Amino acid sequence: MKIRYGGDYNPEQWPKDVWEEDHRLFDAAHIDTLTVGVFTWALTQPGPDVYDFSTLDAIIERAAAAGRRICLATGTGAHPAWMARAHPSVTRTDFEGRKHRFGQRHNSCPSSPDFRRFSVEVARRIARRYAGNPAIVAWHVGNEYGGACYCDLCAAGFREWLRARYGSLSALNAAWYTTFWSHTFTDWDEIEPPSALTEHWRGPDHTAFQGITLDYLRFMSDAMLANYRDEKAAIRQSDPDTPVTTNFMGLYRPIDYHRWAADLDFVSWDNYPPDDRSAARMALAHDLMRGLKGGQPFWLMEQTPSVTACRDVNPLKRPGVMRLWSWQAVAHGADAVLFFQMRAGRGASEKYHGAVIGHSGRSDTRVFREVADLGAELSALGPVTLGARTPARVALLFDWDSWWALEISDGPTRLVRYLDVVTAYHRALWQLGADLDVIPVTAPLDDYDVVVAPALHMIKNGLADRLAAVAFRGGTVLTTFLSGRVDEDDNAFRTEPLSPLLGIRVDEWDAREASYVNPVTINGSTFESRLLFELVIPEGADVVGTYRTDFYAGTAAVTRNEWGAGHAWYVGAALDDAGVSAVIREVLSRHGLLGPCADLPDVETAVRVTPDGDRLLFVLNHGAAPVELPPACAGVDLLSGHPVRTLGPNGVAIYSISASPGVSSAWKTATASPPGPAITQM
Ligand code: GLA
Ligand code: ZN
Repeated sequence: MKIRYGGDYNPEQWPKDVWEEDHRLFDAAHIDTLTVGVFTWALTQPGPDVYDFSTLDAIIERAAAAGRRICLATGTGAHPAWMARAHPSVTRTDFEGRKHRFGQRHNSCPSSPDFRRFSVEVARRIARRYAGNPAIVAWHVGNEYGGACYCDLCAAGFREWLRARYGSLSALNAAWYTTFWSHTFTDWDEIEPPSALTEHWRGPDHTAFQGITLDYLRFMSDAMLANYRDEKAAIRQSDPDTPVTTNFMGLYRPIDYHRWAADLDFVSWDNYPPDDRSAARMALAHDLMRGLKGGQPFWLMEQTPSVTACRDVNPLKRPGVMRLWSWQAVAHGADAVLFFQMRAGRGASEKYHGAVIGHSGRSDTRVFREVADLGAELSALGPVTLGARTPARVALLFDWDSWWALEISDGPTRLVRYLDVVTAYHRALWQLGADLDVIPVTAPLDDYDVVVAPALHMIKNGLADRLAAVAFRGGTVLTTFLSGRVDEDDNAFRTEPLSPLLGIRVDEWDAREASYVNPVTINGSTFESRLLFELVIPEGADVVGTYRTDFYAGTAAVTRNEWGAGHAWYVGAALDDAGVSAVIREVLSRHGLLGPCADLPDVETAVRVTPDGDRLLFVLNHGAAPVELPPACAGVDLLSGHPVRTLGPNGVAIYSISASPGVSSAWKTATASPPGPAITQM
């Protein structure tokens, strides 16, 4: 057993003699797992009543004969052309109200009865045909669910969803605040999907009615979840056990992955960072994905070995970067490292997308060599990391409802973006080396010393009380501007529920263009703050940071309140990175949670605890220069078998710190927590 290694394989695109070459090269690169059939619907179902599995049979047989394991897709991420022509309901209607014709992928209307019938049937037949094949280790439903549809079928589905949620029109009218602008609904059929034709005259984030837009986002996420559930149920008719997943996209706004997580047997996701300076952001996405199922390891379902093709400009991963980022995924909980794609297709929009094997089929390319070297390394490491858990004492709250509500809000500012706030706080925690879980607002908070909730706009499910309990027992809670403002329906609170815990109130706020700076002084150091300046009025809290300019110069920007045995911090302005880091350093220090490389900004550390209780410390150098590691991060590297004191650029080392005398016991105790139950080895 070892970390699975391989990726998306589409040999239906090329002749069979090439398949032989593929498998020879897979052997050379230690490839053991192939994701097959992701876009094969037109092949497996060439007509309404015609199914043809001959190509899929051959692909699976050939892969199984080579001893490879298969993640088998239902192939419903793109519907066939004949279906769109014969059953126009399967295509989507876009935000502008344009009914789409056949084209593209990820293109089906989630509410179309035709799409639902056909997708379930093809999934049912694929499962019936291949269930029990020992090569199949997972089912892959659809592909990268996302987007939205605004057709009449979705409108009808939305009305049904609303009836189930609100029960009565009067409850809906109250939730949506429809007395405003004469919007009271007197019949369910009056309700239209919020689009460019209705509430959104100025674009997708500009709605006149937040309540309906928020509910449509929730509904769309649920409508696609229903599609996933339908197919999963169809698979379960023939295969009761093999885990079922779909590939998520990390920090992806349209789908509330927390609402989906329970329906996946394990989480998998596709990592396509926007640039090569994305180390912290990727760590956040990995932690978010791991947090979807309570810390259970996930699969890295896709990453490019070299370049993507979907962006206007597609930078190449530098030598060593693919390896570094693969180990980063493992450091954060991946039990599989898979690529898109195994061999480059020759035509259409992904012909220049990176692949393990390029068009020429050569094994003497840099990319192939790096893939093969990593394959050898993963094989040599074997099962050591499988099923390991992250012993986090820090939780970062992440909430799609807050994300949506904040970004569809008119005022205080369009310039504050949810992810910018979350990534700023996450980056500071990451740089200071805190192992953290990214968790939904419904998760238990009992295991955490520190709970950070950036831009937690919406408070629901008794969260204010649960946060107060964290501080009361001695923990630290930190939240920021625009937190605790609205209830589950996106209506402002009359009394803000976080106020007692934070010991403050906010009556006024000032928003400025991005170039405007209001300095904030914290403990004698001055930092920049931008975009939004809340005028924080202490009501018991200590003032930690104050504004320097304007009529509110000298008033509170950052506060800390004592609550029980703990603290509750409020940061009322968007501080620069140094300011956020100063605050986070103080919070982590209080709990002894600074990581062993906290003062090495390019060095990432992460701990995983194996099912046997062994603590593994991952050390990753994202910088361009070699770094001397502190004694707590030096030891015998499990990958090289050698002692490591200096880590080169893109360097990776893994230590078993339970066994390493170099690690200070104080640090180990500070980060100690029991491992969770091991997941089923897939
Ligand atoms: C996504 C898809 C793949 C492929 C890659 C290319 O992740 O799932 O089918 O298009 O992007 O980067
Ligand atoms: Zn639709």
